[in-house]
Amino acid sequence: MPSPGFEKRASDRTLLVVEDDDDIRETLVSLLSMEGFRVTGCSNGHEALTWLRASPKPDLILLDLRMPIMDGWQFRVAQKGDPQLASIPAIALSADSTPKAAAIDAEAYLRKPVDYDTLLDTIDRLLVASEHRDLEVRLAQTDRLTSMGTLAAGAAHEINNPLAYVLLNLGYVTEEMQKLLVDCGAAAGESTLLGARAREVMLALEHARDGAERIRDIVWSLKTFSRPESETCVLLNVTRVLDAALAMVHNEIRHRAKLVKNYSEVPEIFANEARLGQMFLNLVLNAVQALPEDRALANEIHVTVECSGPDRIVVEVRDNGTGIPLQVRGRIFEPFFSTKPVGVGTGLGLSICHGVVASLGGDLTFESEVGKGTVFRVELPAAVRTIGAPPAAPRPERRISEAAPPASFVGRSRMLVVDDEPIVCFSLERLLAREGDVITATSASQALAMIQGGQRFDVLLCDLMLPEMDGSALHENIRKIDPAQAERMVFMTGGVFTVRARDFLETVKNKRLSKPFDVDALLSLVRGTLSDAAT
Ligand SMILES: Nc1ncnc2c1ncn2[C@@H]1O[C@H](COP(=O)(O)OP(=O)(O)OP(=O)(O)O)[C@@H](O)[C@H]1O
Ligand SMILES: [Mg+2]
Repeated sequence: MPSPGFEKRASDRTLLVVEDDDDIRETLVSLLSMEGFRVTGCSNGHEALTWLRASPKPDLILLDLRMPIMDGWQFRVAQKGDPQLASIPAIALSADSTPKAAAIDAEAYLRKPVDYDTLLDTIDRLLVASEHRDLEVRLAQTDRLTSMGTLAAGAAHEINNPLAYVLLNLGYVTEEMQKLLVDCGAAAGESTLLGARAREVMLALEHARDGAERIRDIVWSLKTFSRPESETCVLLNVTRVLDAALAMVHNEIRHRAKLVKNYSEVPEIFANEARLGQMFLNLVLNAVQALPEDRALANEIHVTVECSGPDRIVVEVRDNGTGIPLQVRGRIFEPFFSTKPVGVGTGLGLSICHGVVASLGGDLTFESEVGKGTVFRVELPAAVRTIGAPPAAPRPERRISEAAPPASFVGRSRMLVVDDEPIVCFSLERLLAREGDVITATSASQALAMIQGGQRFDVLLCDLMLPEMDGSALHENIRKIDPAQAERMVFMTGGVFTVRARDFLETVKNKRLSKPFDVDALLSLVRGTLSDAAT
């Protein structure tokens, strides 16, 4: 008796019958087709090998042994020697009762005449066994992906601090060079040798800054896509998360297709950043993988963000690739369903996407035409309607103009920088020196001693993860002494949080800055806080 689920199993399995006797072959093909299998017949080993190399691989081979041209033994040797075919299991069927027949290298051996029920049982047993093997391989791949995520998050964390001061210093040197260039032009005329050299240096600096900013985007993406430790949801700008996903596959897209972005301004959504980012990444990767490699000039990926109603956001990822054949459209969201070779696709991408979109109360749909392309459409509710006004959700930073430092306050502002990396302190000090007086501390206790000693700061930039006393403990201590100063603390985060740090950030409204810094965003935030402090 075949096991439960036999009918469903039969309906999506392919068998190859290799048998030189026309009657037996045709009978087997027709009986097994009636069970629901897709069955192909070949009349000898050679014909079977040719067919196998040109067609999608069957799940199982029924193999006669004594055949003309290429017999079953020779076929099996050739099949095992071909890495693409070696793993397809076979049932040997033979009237031959010699030890040579019984010793055939096959998963099962049945003597002819074969009892039909025994044949069905054997087919079923082997298909179930290979299903288990496939599942194990896929689970191992999933495990590997998880470890890769953890590794990526760790690497991103380590890169953050050095990259933070690379960017800060590049920002500083660029600004200083710009001033020098102006002085140089004014003093000696634009066309002097000195002026030309200064412009060369400026260009080199711009390139270095571009490169460092690319690294920052990649590090940011790695943090986003590492496995989330918890499902913390915050207000998110969909376009920014989408751009991070695109940055991750920037290289693959660049070599394979033209990327066209069409972003409209849309409201924020309330979601988990890592999961949303992973969803976009999966859709974009699928689009890239659907584009033929040898057609780079004609390949296109269009990414659109727009509103589909007053409180609905639509993100579309459209490719002009292969399209999805009708017969697989019903299965693409199934976990582990993949038409890609092992090692390229695990078949988890769309099922993850489906889970993420469903958990956000959205819809994930697609349209596809074979040979023309595919569009995946993610429709998500905007934050306001779905969740009301979330009391605990951190509001995004208010927009601060990029204008010069506020002139409204009297006297020089005082800024405190607390970071256990002295170079980060030094680089911030140099960058912020134009905004006011910068005092640095490489530990929280040093900073606390200053406050206890009566010092007052308009902005306190504080690393969240500090040894001994961390940023949250420092905040708590300052709050007891001077609540207004505690409110002016800006927490610098490297992206990897302890549970304690994450919980803390959820309970306070203080502004945050991600390391490595975006120099413009850093200056805007500091200027905004200074101007708040002055009013
Ligand atoms: N843009 C697309 N164009 C053509 N086919 C697609 C596209 N997106 C998905 N598919 C089809 O859907 C299948 C399932 O996609 P899914 O993302 O779940 O898995 P995968 O891409 O095969 O593997 P993984 O995402 O785990 O690496 C793919 O194997 C492919 O056949
Ligand atoms: Mg995929």
